[in-house]
Amino acid sequence: MKNLLVTGGAGFIGSHLVRLLVHKYPQYRIINFDALTYAGNLENLTDVDQAPNYVFVKGDICDAEAVRLALKQYEIDTILNLAAESHVDRSILDPLAFVRTNVLGTATLLNEARSLWRDRTDVLFYHISTDEVYGSLGAEGFFTETTPYDPRSPYSASKASSDHMVRAYGHTYHIPFRISNCSNNYGPCQFPEKLLPLMIQHVQAGKPLPVYGKGENVRDWLWVVDHCTAIDVILHKGKDGETYNIGGNNEWKNIEVVYLLCELMDEALGQTPGTAAGLITFVTDRPGHDLRYAIDASKLKHELDWEPSMDFREGLRQTIRWYLDNPEWVVRVLSGEYQAFYEKQYAHR
Ligand code: NAD
Ligand code: TYD
Repeated sequence: MKNLLVTGGAGFIGSHLVRLLVHKYPQYRIINFDALTYAGNLENLTDVDQAPNYVFVKGDICDAEAVRLALKQYEIDTILNLAAESHVDRSILDPLAFVRTNVLGTATLLNEARSLWRDRTDVLFYHISTDEVYGSLGAEGFFTETTPYDPRSPYSASKASSDHMVRAYGHTYHIPFRISNCSNNYGPCQFPEKLLPLMIQHVQAGKPLPVYGKGENVRDWLWVVDHCTAIDVILHKGKDGETYNIGGNNEWKNIEVVYLLCELMDEALGQTPGTAAGLITFVTDRPGHDLRYAIDASKLKHELDWEPSMDFREGLRQTIRWYLDNPEWVVRVLSGEYQAFYEKQYAHR
């Protein structure tokens, strides 16, 4: 494997993955293919964008011609597909945007790979997906790789659909593929409307912390770099045609995670303990809010020897520190100003 196309490489997880790959595999060429939507920000990658093995291509995965050009021009033999619309709340407001990028975009990538790769066996389509495709759990049990799909939000239905497309193209056209389904990521550079960065901003501004419903919903939280090391392991040691669940063994009720975050924010800001928690406000629940996600990641542990490494409190401390140290990043991302950054730094290249 020499020429990797990472779609969505300017996003939250994608940028951490690109950084890992660029540093760890100088012999590979890493092509970051990203449409730079509201969620894609090249500022996330200023520390690697001069590396000789890194290339950025502005492109939409729904644009067959742009995809074809990139696959040909860079002789791509490996696609890591992370480009997606990724926020459940947005999918409730605008489901078709999710169908477009997540379903049609993934199918377009597969279709171009199919015509270009033509039964090659030295290629790989690695699709990055979510545990939300499995639906919602009650108080007990875990998602395994054989749990039937039961998506319940437009986001998870579009990701489930894209997973099915990958398997269908793989089986029908003999495209070697792998899929991983991961739990909730956290860490630096996450778009500030997702739970944890949103709460960090609100504590700083002294604004109410909106907890949906009673905060009883449970999520499994994984440090974003741990997700990327799992992707690296699956890319290099995984088997074609296989699915791998990735999780943090780290389940928390939303209200508990918000209390923990508040405690750490008080500590970081030098505030009286309890100050941040005083901002917690219960708000109207998300429609169709899945109660609990929990991952059984034992396949990854036993077959590929991967385990999460980051302690949750420490990961949250590092996340908080990063947001406190980068207030201008938040302002630019929320205002869409980073698009101007692209025009200035990249458009002429
Ligand atoms: P993100 O929203 O932060 O980033 C998505 C990236 O994709 C952005 O850079 C955006 O510009 C790009 N993009 C969007 N539409 C595109 C298109 N049509 N063509 C090209 N690029 C496009 O998302 P994220 O949180 O980094 O998630 C990355 C992937 O991982 C997604 O596929 C998501 O479903 C999956 N995932 C995310 C999580 C999580 O907790 N964030 C958990 C499991 C799986
Ligand atoms: P989110 O970060 O949107 O991830 P997902 O919905 O994909 O799990 O939300 C994580 C959890 O936090 C989810 O149960 C919804 C809840 N939540 C709130 O309670 N308040 C908020 O403002 C947000 C954005 C999320």
